[in-house]
Amino acid sequence: MKIGILAFSDPQFAKYAFVEEIAATIEAKGHVPVRLYTPQLAFIRTDGKLVITHNGEPLEKIDVIIARPNFLEDPSSHAYPAQLLEQAGYRIINSWPSYWYAKNKLEQHVTSLTNGLPMARWAIAKRTSEIMLAADKIGFPVVLKVSFGSFGRGVFYADSKEVLRPVADYLTSRNAMPIIVEEFLADADRKDIRVFVVDGKVIASMERTAPPGDIRTNTSNGGSGATYQLSDRERDLALKAAKEYQLEIGGIDLMYTKEGPVVVEVNANPGFEELQKTTNVSIAGAIVDYAIKVATK
Ligand SMILES: Nc1ncnc2c1ncn2[C@@H]1O[C@H](COP(=O)(O)OP(=O)(O)O)[C@@H](O)[C@H]1O
Ligand SMILES: [Mg+2]
Repeated sequence: MKIGILAFSDPQFAKYAFVEEIAATIEAKGHVPVRLYTPQLAFIRTDGKLVITHNGEPLEKIDVIIARPNFLEDPSSHAYPAQLLEQAGYRIINSWPSYWYAKNKLEQHVTSLTNGLPMARWAIAKRTSEIMLAADKIGFPVVLKVSFGSFGRGVFYADSKEVLRPVADYLTSRNAMPIIVEEFLADADRKDIRVFVVDGKVIASMERTAPPGDIRTNTSNGGSGATYQLSDRERDLALKAAKEYQLEIGGIDLMYTKEGPVVVEVNANPGFEELQKTTNVSIAGAIVDYAIKVATK
């Protein structure tokens, strides 16, 4: 069968979409990978008919497409390729609506009030004065986050007003974007737990530790992975988060608190290099097996 891999960038920027590793896995399992890059797609509607081209050629029939939403910007401008491909009858995993939430930290905080997923105490504010007020109420240290960061870029630690105010000033004046203020989860001791979920099941998990002199555990930032045995509570929370965000394939980040685990973030384009190294589980294999299962249905 033909299995597509959809990256949301030109090929040279698709490193973190893991396109080549997934393609090699598809081949190893006896199927044909089709690499798709959103800049190479055109959607042309004439005479009431939608024609989709890739690299100037009509898009072939593909049994299932694995989406790797590796964009860093506001997801609204990246919606159309997945939406139109789905309307044209292509089956995409994960399907569109999941990235709207999974790629937008603001949305994750807003929806946490209704979906019941526990998070660190937080605030959302747009002005330095309001950010300072929020930090005062939450208590120092705090963590600041921009809405569309990834790889830990856009996450800042502030242990005092002196550190926080200039960062808040810069962020709010630079892009007038709302800023998320969170309590710093000190009990977690600069560690978090990455849980990789495929098809409602935990495929692998690891504990990540931030490198010295940092609070961010992102492996792209030097964080290191170690084997980790999930508690039932952590497993249940990760599966609930994947379900709430409609992630057939998702990376759920949890942190320890004395009151129980909380969700730090859900990822729709989770990397898997460090996780494969740490656990010896073939994550690419699990993703491709799931795609085959979906296409065979
Ligand atoms: N409230 C917090 N308290 C302590 N550490 C945090 C908190 N929020 C994030 N971190 C650390 O920063 C890292 C990056 O934050 P995250 O929200 O996942 O952003 P990104 O999308 O850039 O990965 C997390 O993996 C975690 O190690
Ligand atoms: Mg993260």
